Amino acid sequence: MLRRRLLAEVGHTPTYATRHTMIPGTQGYAEHAAELSKRFESVSFAEKHAAVMHLLPSAPSTVLDLGAGTGADAAWFASRGHSVVAVEPTDALRQAGIELHGASAFEWVDDSLPDLAGLRACDQRFDVIMLTAVWMHLDERERRRAMPRLASLLAPNAVLVMSIRHGPAPSERRIFEVSDEETVALAAQCALEKLLVLRTESVQAANRLAGVTWSRLAFRMVA
Ligand SMILES: C[S@@+](CC[C@H](N)C(=O)[O-])C[C@H]1O[C@@H](n2cnc3c(N)ncnc32)[C@H](O)[C@@H]1O
Repeated sequence: MLRRRLLAEVGHTPTYATRHTMIPGTQGYAEHAAELSKRFESVSFAEKHAAVMHLLPSAPSTVLDLGAGTGADAAWFASRGHSVVAVEPTDALRQAGIELHGASAFEWVDDSLPDLAGLRACDQRFDVIMLTAVWMHLDERERRRAMPRLASLLAPNAVLVMSIRHGPAPSERRIFEVSDEETVALAAQCALEKLLVLRTESVQAANRLAGVTWSRLAFRMVA
């Protein structure tokens, strides 16, 4: 499947032990992987994605969960019969996800934005791309580079679903303030039609109390 092709094409070993460069946006994740794994898995999909549930397909589809963390969302899609690829560049989170959800419920890939070089080499298109709590880890240059690459992975009529964090953040993370206007404009340049833009409070009580809010955005590939 995709992972086997990826391993062959980008020369990874199945232990994922070949990449030694740290992806800038992943700063602050590996050292807290155990605690974060519990947190990522503690929020139900329906609660976290209430604002966009109506945009997700019910018929079996191909789903890419980008920056999947421990794969909580990927597991939800897989349990509903979708064919899922979870991309996660932080080794400790990916390994924790494999332990939690197994190695065969969906495919795990070690790759990263903005280029997604390994994934794009496989020339697969997806019906849904989930980019949950990831986009604000990219700087402006990376975001400009990433949007066309995301668009190139979407099948006609596919949906791109994003959540972007605002407000206070842990100091060890690399987080940028990203406006909805910028994201909508970048998407429009890539034939991505705006379906939804709204602001929600955090579903995690501690973050809500701290004043964290989220932008929820969704786009449809019209090309
Ligand atoms: C807040 S976590 C969200 C995890 C998961 N999407 C969820 O909602 O549970 C952000 C994730 O983005 C990943 N990440 C950071 N920079 C990235 C990049 N450049 N490309 C892909 N993933 C990245 C991190 O490793 C981390 O797993």
